[in-house]
Amino acid sequence: MRAIIPVAGVGSRLRPHTYALPKVLLNVAGKPILGHIIDKVRGEGITEATIVVGNMGEKIREYVSGAYPDFPVDYVEQEERLGLGHAIHLSEKTIGAEPILIILGDTIFDVDLAPVLQGKVSALGVKAVEDPRRFGVAEIQNGRIIRLVEKPEKPTTNLAIVGLYYIVHPRLLVECLNDLVTRDARTKGEYQLTDALQGMIDRGEMIVPFKVEGWYDCGKPETLLSTNRALLQKRSTSNAIPGVVINEPVYIAPSANLSNCIVGPNTSVGNNAEVSGCVIRNSIISEGARVQGMLLDNSIIGNGSVLTGSFKRINIGGESEIEFF
Ligand code: G1P
Repeated sequence: MRAIIPVAGVGSRLRPHTYALPKVLLNVAGKPILGHIIDKVRGEGITEATIVVGNMGEKIREYVSGAYPDFPVDYVEQEERLGLGHAIHLSEKTIGAEPILIILGDTIFDVDLAPVLQGKVSALGVKAVEDPRRFGVAEIQNGRIIRLVEKPEKPTTNLAIVGLYYIVHPRLLVECLNDLVTRDARTKGEYQLTDALQGMIDRGEMIVPFKVEGWYDCGKPETLLSTNRALLQKRSTSNAIPGVVINEPVYIAPSANLSNCIVGPNTSVGNNAEVSGCVIRNSIISEGARVQGMLLDNSIIGNGSVLTGSFKRINIGGESEIEFF
Protein backbone atom coordinates (compact mmCIF):
# COMPACT_ATOMS: atom_id res chain seq x y z
CA MET A 1 0.00 0.00 0.00
CA ARG A 2 1.06 3.54 -0.73
CA ALA A 3 1.17 6.44 1.71
CA ILE A 4 0.78 10.00 0.51
CA ILE A 5 2.67 12.36 2.81
CA PRO A 6 2.22 16.10 2.16
CA VAL A 7 5.10 18.04 3.71
CA ALA A 8 5.19 21.24 1.67
CA GLY A 9 4.29 23.61 4.54
CA VAL A 10 6.66 26.46 5.36
CA GLY A 11 6.46 26.03 9.15
CA SER A 12 6.31 29.76 9.82
CA ARG A 13 5.44 29.24 13.49
CA LEU A 14 8.72 27.38 13.95
CA ARG A 15 11.01 30.12 12.72
CA PRO A 16 13.94 30.57 13.02
CA HIS A 17 14.39 26.77 12.85
CA THR A 18 12.51 26.54 9.57
CA TYR A 19 14.76 29.10 7.86
CA ALA A 20 17.45 26.43 7.77
CA LEU A 21 15.40 23.23 7.60
CA PRO A 22 11.94 22.23 6.45
CA LYS A 23 9.68 21.68 9.43
CA VAL A 24 9.47 17.90 8.98
CA LEU A 25 13.22 17.58 9.37
CA LEU A 26 13.25 19.17 12.82
CA ASN A 27 14.38 16.74 15.51
CA VAL A 28 12.08 15.41 18.15
CA ALA A 29 12.90 12.51 20.49
CA GLY A 30 16.08 11.75 18.58
CA LYS A 31 15.03 11.88 14.94
CA PRO A 32 13.32 14.13 12.42
CA ILE A 33 9.51 14.35 12.52
CA LEU A 34 9.44 12.77 9.04
CA GLY A 35 11.53 9.84 10.34
CA HIS A 36 8.87 9.14 12.98
CA ILE A 37 6.18 9.22 10.27
CA ILE A 38 8.04 6.95 7.84
CA ASP A 39 8.90 4.47 10.61
CA LYS A 40 5.25 4.42 11.62
CA VAL A 41 3.84 3.79 8.13
CA ARG A 42 6.46 1.18 7.28
CA GLY A 43 5.72 -0.55 10.57
CA GLU A 44 2.08 -0.70 9.44
CA GLY A 45 3.05 -2.45 6.20
CA ILE A 46 3.13 0.52 3.82
CA THR A 47 5.56 -0.34 1.03
CA GLU A 48 5.87 2.89 -0.97
CA ALA A 49 5.13 6.59 -0.63
CA THR A 50 4.48 9.83 -2.41
CA ILE A 51 5.98 12.79 -0.61
CA VAL A 52 4.66 16.19 -1.65
CA VAL A 53 7.46 18.69 -1.15
CA GLY A 54 7.64 22.44 -1.59
CA ASN A 55 9.81 24.28 0.84
CA MET A 56 13.43 23.01 0.68
CA GLY A 57 12.36 19.80 -1.04
CA GLU A 58 15.94 18.85 -1.88
CA LYS A 59 16.76 18.55 1.83
CA ILE A 60 13.82 16.21 2.29
CA ARG A 61 14.93 14.01 -0.63
CA GLU A 62 18.45 13.94 0.77
CA TYR A 63 17.25 12.90 4.22
CA VAL A 64 14.83 10.21 3.01
CA SER A 65 17.24 8.65 0.52
CA GLY A 66 20.00 8.62 3.16
CA ALA A 67 17.93 7.28 6.04
CA TYR A 68 15.60 4.98 4.05
CA PRO A 69 17.56 3.89 0.96
CA ASP A 70 15.32 0.86 0.34
CA PHE A 71 11.99 2.70 0.60
CA PRO A 72 10.56 3.59 -2.84
CA VAL A 73 9.39 7.21 -2.84
CA ASP A 74 7.95 9.40 -5.60
CA TYR A 75 8.35 13.11 -5.05
CA VAL A 76 5.80 15.66 -6.18
CA GLU A 77 6.55 19.40 -6.15
CA GLN A 78 3.91 21.76 -4.86
CA GLU A 79 5.16 25.14 -5.97
CA GLU A 80 2.08 27.14 -5.06
CA ARG A 81 0.56 26.80 -1.60
CA LEU A 82 -3.02 26.23 -2.65
CA GLY A 83 -4.01 23.87 0.13
CA LEU A 84 -3.94 20.27 1.22
CA GLY A 85 -6.47 19.25 -1.44
CA HIS A 86 -4.17 20.78 -4.04
CA ALA A 87 -1.19 18.81 -2.67
CA ILE A 88 -3.10 15.53 -3.05
CA HIS A 89 -4.43 16.62 -6.45
CA LEU A 90 -0.83 17.08 -7.65
CA SER A 91 -0.05 13.50 -6.54
CA GLU A 92 -2.68 12.12 -8.93
CA LYS A 93 -0.21 10.32 -11.20
CA THR A 94 1.13 8.27 -8.29
CA ILE A 95 -2.35 7.20 -7.14
CA GLY A 96 -3.71 3.95 -8.58
CA ALA A 97 -6.84 1.95 -7.88
CA GLU A 98 -5.48 0.35 -4.71
CA PRO A 99 -6.31 1.85 -1.30
CA ILE A 100 -4.03 4.63 -0.02
CA LEU A 101 -3.22 6.15 3.34
CA ILE A 102 -2.82 9.93 3.49
CA ILE A 103 -0.86 11.01 6.56
CA LEU A 104 -0.11 14.65 7.28
CA GLY A 105 3.55 15.47 7.64
CA ASP A 106 3.44 17.81 10.61
CA THR A 107 2.05 15.46 13.18
CA ILE A 108 3.21 12.28 14.88
CA PHE A 109 0.56 9.66 15.53
CA ASP A 110 0.56 6.85 18.03
CA VAL A 111 -2.32 4.62 16.98
CA ASP A 112 -2.70 1.02 15.86
CA LEU A 113 -3.63 1.33 12.18
CA ALA A 114 -3.82 -2.41 11.47
CA PRO A 115 -7.59 -2.74 12.01
CA VAL A 116 -8.16 0.33 9.81
CA LEU A 117 -5.87 -0.74 6.97
CA GLN A 118 -7.35 -4.25 6.93
CA GLY A 119 -10.87 -2.81 6.65
CA LYS A 120 -12.77 -2.60 3.41
CA VAL A 121 -14.16 0.90 4.02
CA SER A 122 -12.63 4.35 3.90
CA ALA A 123 -11.85 5.71 7.36
CA LEU A 124 -10.73 9.02 8.87
CA GLY A 125 -8.87 9.46 12.16
CA VAL A 126 -10.76 11.74 14.56
CA LYS A 127 -10.35 13.05 18.07
CA ALA A 128 -12.62 15.08 20.34
CA VAL A 129 -11.00 18.50 20.94
CA GLU A 130 -11.86 21.54 23.01
CA ASP A 131 -11.78 24.05 20.17
CA PRO A 132 -12.73 22.40 16.86
CA ARG A 133 -12.68 25.71 14.94
CA ARG A 134 -8.98 25.21 14.13
CA PHE A 135 -9.64 21.88 12.39
CA GLY A 136 -11.77 20.04 9.91
CA VAL A 137 -14.65 18.39 11.76
CA ALA A 138 -16.67 15.22 11.16
CA GLU A 139 -20.37 14.74 11.88
CA ILE A 140 -21.26 11.13 12.58
CA GLN A 141 -24.56 9.33 12.24
CA ASN A 142 -25.06 5.61 12.79
CA GLY A 143 -21.34 4.96 12.78
CA ARG A 144 -20.56 6.71 9.51
CA ILE A 145 -19.45 10.19 8.61
CA ILE A 146 -22.27 12.15 7.05
CA ARG A 147 -20.72 15.61 6.87
CA LEU A 148 -17.25 17.14 6.91
CA VAL A 149 -16.64 20.85 7.40
CA GLU A 150 -13.27 22.59 7.25
CA LYS A 151 -12.62 24.95 10.17
CA PRO A 152 -16.26 25.75 10.95
CA GLU A 153 -16.98 29.03 12.71
CA LYS A 154 -19.91 27.45 14.54
CA PRO A 155 -18.99 23.78 14.94
CA THR A 156 -21.84 21.34 15.42
CA THR A 157 -19.46 18.66 16.69
CA ASN A 158 -16.14 18.61 18.55
CA LEU A 159 -14.72 15.69 16.56
CA ALA A 160 -11.65 16.99 14.75
CA ILE A 161 -10.06 15.39 11.70
CA VAL A 162 -6.53 14.56 12.87
CA GLY A 163 -4.81 14.06 9.51
CA LEU A 164 -4.97 10.29 8.90
CA TYR A 165 -7.09 9.30 5.93
CA TYR A 166 -7.53 5.73 4.67
CA ILE A 167 -9.14 5.82 1.25
CA VAL A 168 -10.30 2.59 -0.38
CA HIS A 169 -11.45 4.22 -3.64
CA PRO A 170 -8.66 6.70 -4.31
CA ARG A 171 -9.66 7.26 -7.96
CA LEU A 172 -12.97 8.65 -6.71
CA LEU A 173 -10.99 10.99 -4.46
CA VAL A 174 -8.90 12.07 -7.47
CA GLU A 175 -12.13 12.76 -9.38
CA CYS A 176 -13.55 14.86 -6.53
CA LEU A 177 -10.28 16.82 -6.22
CA ASN A 178 -10.26 17.47 -9.99
CA ASP A 179 -13.81 18.67 -9.66
CA LEU A 180 -12.83 21.21 -6.95
CA VAL A 181 -9.92 22.52 -9.00
CA THR A 182 -11.96 22.72 -12.24
CA ARG A 183 -14.74 24.63 -10.49
CA ASP A 184 -12.17 26.64 -8.55
CA ALA A 185 -14.14 25.70 -5.43
CA ARG A 186 -12.06 26.91 -2.51
CA THR A 187 -12.77 27.17 1.19
CA LYS A 188 -10.79 29.80 3.09
CA GLY A 189 -8.86 30.46 -0.11
CA GLU A 190 -7.60 26.89 -0.54
CA TYR A 191 -8.56 23.63 -2.20
CA GLN A 192 -9.48 21.52 0.79
CA LEU A 193 -9.07 17.77 1.12
CA THR A 194 -12.03 17.98 3.51
CA ASP A 195 -14.26 19.31 0.68
CA ALA A 196 -13.13 16.56 -1.72
CA LEU A 197 -13.95 13.94 0.93
CA GLN A 198 -17.39 15.52 1.32
CA GLY A 199 -17.68 15.15 -2.46
CA MET A 200 -16.95 11.42 -2.06
CA ILE A 201 -19.65 11.10 0.61
CA ASP A 202 -22.10 12.95 -1.67
CA ARG A 203 -21.32 10.39 -4.37
CA GLY A 204 -22.13 7.51 -2.05
CA GLU A 205 -18.73 6.63 -0.55
CA MET A 206 -19.04 5.16 2.92
CA ILE A 207 -16.49 6.77 5.27
CA VAL A 208 -16.26 5.74 8.91
CA PRO A 209 -14.40 7.43 11.78
CA PHE A 210 -11.72 5.84 13.94
CA LYS A 211 -10.52 7.26 17.24
CA VAL A 212 -6.95 8.52 17.56
CA GLU A 213 -5.75 9.32 21.07
CA GLY A 214 -2.02 9.65 20.41
CA TRP A 215 -1.91 12.82 18.29
CA TYR A 216 1.23 14.86 18.78
CA ASP A 217 1.40 18.27 17.17
CA CYS A 218 4.79 19.58 16.11
CA GLY A 219 3.70 22.97 14.77
CA LYS A 220 5.13 25.37 17.37
CA PRO A 221 8.19 25.38 19.66
CA GLU A 222 6.03 24.60 22.73
CA THR A 223 4.30 21.68 21.02
CA LEU A 224 7.57 20.36 19.60
CA LEU A 225 8.90 20.27 23.16
CA SER A 226 5.76 18.69 24.59
CA THR A 227 5.82 16.07 21.82
CA ASN A 228 9.49 15.43 22.60
CA ARG A 229 8.51 14.91 26.24
CA ALA A 230 5.56 12.63 25.44
CA LEU A 231 7.58 10.43 23.07
CA LEU A 232 10.50 10.14 25.49
CA GLN A 233 8.14 9.18 28.29
CA LYS A 234 7.01 6.26 26.13
CA ARG A 235 10.45 5.04 25.22
CA SER A 236 13.39 6.52 27.04
CA THR A 237 16.69 5.09 25.84
CA SER A 238 20.07 5.77 27.33
CA ASN A 239 23.19 3.99 28.45
CA ALA A 240 25.33 5.10 31.34
CA ILE A 241 27.96 7.62 30.24
CA PRO A 242 30.93 8.26 32.53
CA GLY A 243 30.82 11.77 34.01
CA VAL A 244 27.19 12.30 32.99
CA VAL A 245 24.20 12.21 35.30
CA ILE A 246 21.11 11.13 33.41
CA ASN A 247 17.63 11.95 34.63
CA GLU A 248 15.25 9.80 32.61
CA PRO A 249 13.46 10.08 30.30
CA VAL A 250 16.05 11.07 27.73
CA TYR A 251 17.26 10.09 24.30
CA ILE A 252 20.99 10.33 23.74
CA ALA A 253 22.24 9.33 20.30
CA PRO A 254 25.05 6.77 20.48
CA SER A 255 27.24 9.10 18.38
CA ALA A 256 26.70 12.11 20.69
CA ASN A 257 29.62 13.10 22.83
CA LEU A 258 28.77 14.18 26.39
CA SER A 259 31.01 14.98 29.29
CA ASN A 260 30.57 16.48 32.72
CA CYS A 261 26.82 17.07 32.34
CA ILE A 262 23.48 16.59 33.99
CA VAL A 263 20.98 15.69 31.27
CA GLY A 264 17.21 15.33 31.52
CA PRO A 265 14.48 14.84 32.20
CA ASN A 266 12.71 15.12 28.83
CA THR A 267 15.78 15.85 26.79
CA SER A 268 16.96 14.49 23.48
CA VAL A 269 20.49 14.82 22.16
CA GLY A 270 20.96 14.09 18.46
CA ASN A 271 23.68 12.40 16.44
CA ASN A 272 27.17 13.82 16.74
CA ALA A 273 26.12 16.54 19.18
CA GLU A 274 28.81 17.61 21.65
CA VAL A 275 27.70 18.68 25.09
CA SER A 276 30.04 19.47 27.95
CA GLY A 277 29.77 21.17 31.32
CA CYS A 278 26.00 21.63 31.00
CA VAL A 279 22.79 21.11 32.93
CA ILE A 280 20.02 20.51 30.38
CA ARG A 281 16.38 19.62 30.91
CA ASN A 282 13.17 19.62 28.83
CA SER A 283 15.13 20.41 25.69
CA ILE A 284 16.06 19.26 22.20
CA ILE A 285 19.71 19.36 21.20
CA SER A 286 19.78 18.59 17.48
CA GLU A 287 22.36 16.84 15.35
CA GLY A 288 25.87 18.15 15.39
CA ALA A 289 25.10 20.98 17.84
CA ARG A 290 27.90 22.02 20.19
CA VAL A 291 26.86 23.22 23.64
CA GLN A 292 29.29 24.12 26.36
CA GLY A 293 28.91 25.52 29.89
CA MET A 294 25.15 26.18 29.70
CA LEU A 295 22.12 25.78 31.94
CA LEU A 296 19.24 25.07 29.57
CA ASP A 297 15.53 24.50 30.11
CA ASN A 298 12.75 24.34 27.48
CA SER A 299 15.24 25.02 24.71
CA ILE A 300 15.56 23.90 21.11
CA ILE A 301 19.04 23.99 19.64
CA GLY A 302 19.09 23.49 15.88
CA ASN A 303 21.40 21.26 13.83
CA GLY A 304 25.02 22.35 13.94
CA SER A 305 24.42 25.37 16.23
CA VAL A 306 27.14 26.39 18.63
CA LEU A 307 26.25 27.68 22.08
CA THR A 308 28.88 28.53 24.63
CA GLY A 309 28.30 29.86 28.13
CA SER A 310 30.68 30.74 30.87
CA PHE A 311 31.29 29.97 34.49
CA LYS A 312 31.08 32.86 36.91
CA ARG A 313 33.43 33.67 39.70
CA ILE A 314 31.53 35.04 42.66
CA ASN A 315 32.87 36.09 46.01
CA ILE A 316 29.85 36.63 48.18
CA GLY A 317 29.32 37.13 51.90
CA GLY A 318 26.64 35.60 54.13
CA GLU A 319 22.91 36.57 54.04
CA SER A 320 23.20 37.69 50.40
CA GLU A 321 20.71 37.00 47.68
CA ILE A 322 21.57 36.98 44.00
CA GLU A 323 19.32 35.96 41.12
CA PHE A 324 20.45 35.44 37.54
CA PHE A 325 17.84 35.50 34.77
C1 G1P B 1 -5.43 20.27 7.97
C2 G1P B 1 -6.82 19.80 7.48
C3 G1P B 1 -7.80 19.79 8.64
C4 G1P B 1 -7.27 18.92 9.77
C5 G1P B 1 -5.87 19.40 10.19
C6 G1P B 1 -5.25 18.46 11.19
O1 G1P B 1 -5.52 21.61 8.36
O2 G1P B 1 -7.26 20.67 6.46
O3 G1P B 1 -9.05 19.30 8.21
O4 G1P B 1 -8.16 18.98 10.88
O5 G1P B 1 -4.99 19.48 9.06
O6 G1P B 1 -4.03 18.95 11.67
P1 G1P B 1 -4.20 22.54 8.57
O7 G1P B 1 -3.68 22.23 9.92
O8 G1P B 1 -3.26 22.19 7.47
O9 G1P B 1 -4.71 23.95 8.46
